[in-house]
Amino acid sequence: MSAFPVTRLRRLRRTGALRALVRETRLDLDDFVMPLFVGPQTEPNEALPAMGRWSVEEVGEEVDRLAAGGVKAVILFGIPDEKDEEGSGAWDDDGVVQRSLRALRPRFPELVLLADVCLCEYTAHGHCGVVADDEVDNDATLELLARTAVSHVEAGADAVCPSDMMDGRVAAIREALPDTPIVAYSAKYASAFYGPFREAADSTPSFGDRRGYQMDPANVREALRECELDIAEGADVIMVKPALPYLDVIRAARERFELPLAAYNVSGEYAMVKAAAAQGWLEERQAALESLTAIKRAGADIVVSYWTKDLSAWL
Ligand code: PBG
Repeated sequence: MSAFPVTRLRRLRRTGALRALVRETRLDLDDFVMPLFVGPQTEPNEALPAMGRWSVEEVGEEVDRLAAGGVKAVILFGIPDEKDEEGSGAWDDDGVVQRSLRALRPRFPELVLLADVCLCEYTAHGHCGVVADDEVDNDATLELLARTAVSHVEAGADAVCPSDMMDGRVAAIREALPDTPIVAYSAKYASAFYGPFREAADSTPSFGDRRGYQMDPANVREALRECELDIAEGADVIMVKPALPYLDVIRAARERFELPLAAYNVSGEYAMVKAAAAQGWLEERQAALESLTAIKRAGADIVVSYWTKDLSAWL
């Protein structure tokens, strides 16, 4: 490479059109998934608008607005009327997610409807599986997750997204659903950045924490093992979560695997920018676009983000 003054990298930065011509990473709404919380009633969240809840009756109006803006995919999370020890609301055919899917499916035939598969929003203790002797029982949970995934597909989901981090859950779901795409939360870390989600979904564990099943933030080789196992069990898409503090994990998974790779730009990542913007310390749109570009640049094909709705206005 020739050095200065023959080479001057600023030449291609002079105008917006030149910068656009050589841009390596672009944001395209087709790659984004909007999370939606459905619950017993609509409850807006002023500070974090994307973390509000929609009733089954009103979620269709929000999806109308999203679809009008060009959003192509949503992922549903449910907050049930009542929780119990097993989390039976998760696979209830009359559950809040199942009813929402039945309402949305015929109204939005083109929309990609993803359903998060986990028990934590439905269990009284808030853990992602069945609890026995103060521990989450991995194998007893598998059948319940598979049952939940089947009920989502019967209600109209295009794909199911297990986020519980039990070993063997992809295999259990794959056996029950040979034809359904599985978007596996493969490398899901025990993260401090899920705070606003747990408030929105009312899923904070009543005792202990999730470190016995979610990954240690210090590990990247283990993330690749998680991805490898999920692929062997039949996953169609692998996911890294959170996104911004784990860009190296996204990159490592991108380099190792051929499957479509998703990244979850989680509630805490969204809330940090929102809070700083409310103080006047950051410009939200710039900070959000930069964050989402970084996630794509690291190697994500698909991004789940609370900014998806705003993005349709920004792009
Ligand atoms: C449920 C689940 C969580 C998130 C997605 N699915 C929370 C958790 O594991 O506690 C977090 C998403 C976010 O913070 O935006 N198992």
